Amino acid sequence: MDSKQEKINKLKERIALSKLGGGQKRIDKQHKNKKLTARERIDYLLDEGSFEEIGALVTHRSTDFGMENQIIYGDGVVTGYGTIHGRLVYVYAQDFTVFGGSLSETHAEKICKVMDMAVKVGVPIIGLNDSGGARIQEGVRSLGGYADIFFRNVQASGVIPQISAVMGPCAGGAVYSPAMTDFIIMVEQTSYMFVTGPNVVKTVTNEEVTSEELGGAQTHATKSGVAHKTSANDVECLEDIKKLIQYIPQNNTETPKLLDYTLKDEVRDVLSNIVPDNPNKPYDMHEVISGIIDTDSFYEIHKEYAENIIVGFARLGGRSVGIVANQPMAFAGVLGVRSSKKAARFVRFCDCFNIPLLVLVDVPGFLPGTDQEWNGIIVHGAKLLYALSEATVPRVTVITRKAYGGAYDVMNSKHIGADFNFAWPGAEIAVMGAKGASEIIFRREIMAAENPEEKLAEKEAEYAAKFANPYRAAKRGFIDEVILPKNTRRKLLKAFASLENKDVNLPKRKHGNIPL
Ligand code: HXC
Repeated sequence: MDSKQEKINKLKERIALSKLGGGQKRIDKQHKNKKLTARERIDYLLDEGSFEEIGALVTHRSTDFGMENQIIYGDGVVTGYGTIHGRLVYVYAQDFTVFGGSLSETHAEKICKVMDMAVKVGVPIIGLNDSGGARIQEGVRSLGGYADIFFRNVQASGVIPQISAVMGPCAGGAVYSPAMTDFIIMVEQTSYMFVTGPNVVKTVTNEEVTSEELGGAQTHATKSGVAHKTSANDVECLEDIKKLIQYIPQNNTETPKLLDYTLKDEVRDVLSNIVPDNPNKPYDMHEVISGIIDTDSFYEIHKEYAENIIVGFARLGGRSVGIVANQPMAFAGVLGVRSSKKAARFVRFCDCFNIPLLVLVDVPGFLPGTDQEWNGIIVHGAKLLYALSEATVPRVTVITRKAYGGAYDVMNSKHIGADFNFAWPGAEIAVMGAKGASEIIFRREIMAAENPEEKLAEKEAEYAAKFANPYRAAKRGFIDEVILPKNTRRKLLKAFASLENKDVNLPKRKHGNIPL
């Protein structure tokens, strides 16, 4: 029988082997490809020394294709828990050095185990993906493993935050686990995501495309919107996750941690000079955002996708808030298919996890055209309308300039449940712009006039004087207060503090039927 020391040595040997993954040669290759290993990633992500591994000695059960002779402890995924800024999280990191990080039945079981634990204890789950997809030697058992993960992604959705980093290949059905999580961060140049790769694309559609063009980080950050953020390298990606986690709570029964904050600079003159006098001149809504929030606290999501709307997290007096803001610098801030989807998704995340919403409005309306209509602006615009209407978190709106047409209703108007609606003195709240409106309602008068152009200008001025201001809406109580721009921060600090204990009881239903 083994002596006590021999038993200990055996354990140590196994643990040491598990730490080596697919061996030094493959680790070196990983580094040569500008990628950290699974363990290095976890070490970087979590507070020093906080990682506790689960399942280091798990091995696959395959007996086909000589797999019975290739046993590697851990089976291509490192799983466990630890802390980020002292907060507990569960984590899994696929190990590309072991069978290309491919997903076997047991690899999937390990991921499912930490997902179940994260739900049980109510903490975020973070997945670091780097995998060649289904373990080819295992066939349908691997597919089943994926489905087990997908199912858990859905059960955990809206219960605990789920964050995915894509730090290597992620192809085929494997993309659907990250896709069902709350955030995807992709590493530039070393990661890609696609349902079918360039070879299949070439065979089926005859298109020639590289992996990078088809599904690299830039593609998904700018064209598809699949990636919420991109990072220059592994380290930056892990830093991004650490930052993101600070704005969100552990689970759907908690609110984000309030940071210590001493109120100062509540009146900010800088806000008075951002909106130009000429209503057709653009300005950068980022300036308004940074004029309102705690210094340097903005964490932008989907920065390069649908730039006509800005979404992201910020701090207001130490409180985490989600910001949705039209961006006059891009397409005059109109709402379109992509911007509506982007904002709706963000609103729903904030509402799931008790993050109050601040909506900054400068919107001339919805984007017209066949492209928009044929791509379903009706249904996609409805997503944003629906998402905001159903959100029960504290909701505050500031109209900085234009709020026209249906977009006025959609952008967190009083009518769809906003708690406080403020407008700056230059706000224009109307069915449409003065020129378009005059051409319709005064058409006969203008046509009959001796000088139709002069008449149109006169009528336009009349309409603008009546409607291109915030006072009609204020009269009806649709705007609670017309405020000076420099006082916006102070008003918002007070408004959100007063809404801290907002409680909304909704009638029982299984779930709503958001237009998809
Ligand atoms: C088993 C795999 C593997 C896989 C890679 N490996 N992918 N082993 N199953 N899916 C192994 C390789 O044999 C190799 O082993 C090691 O991992 C590293 O792979 P390389 O090819 O040397 O690396 P690289 O050149 O960087 O290429 C990476 C890759 C390529 C592009 C991911 O390996 C690849 O194309 N793999 C197959 C991808 C694929 O078709 N997967 C199935 C997709 S279908 P050694 O021993 O040499 O180090 C799918 C369906 C999911 O995933 C459905 C869910 C519903």
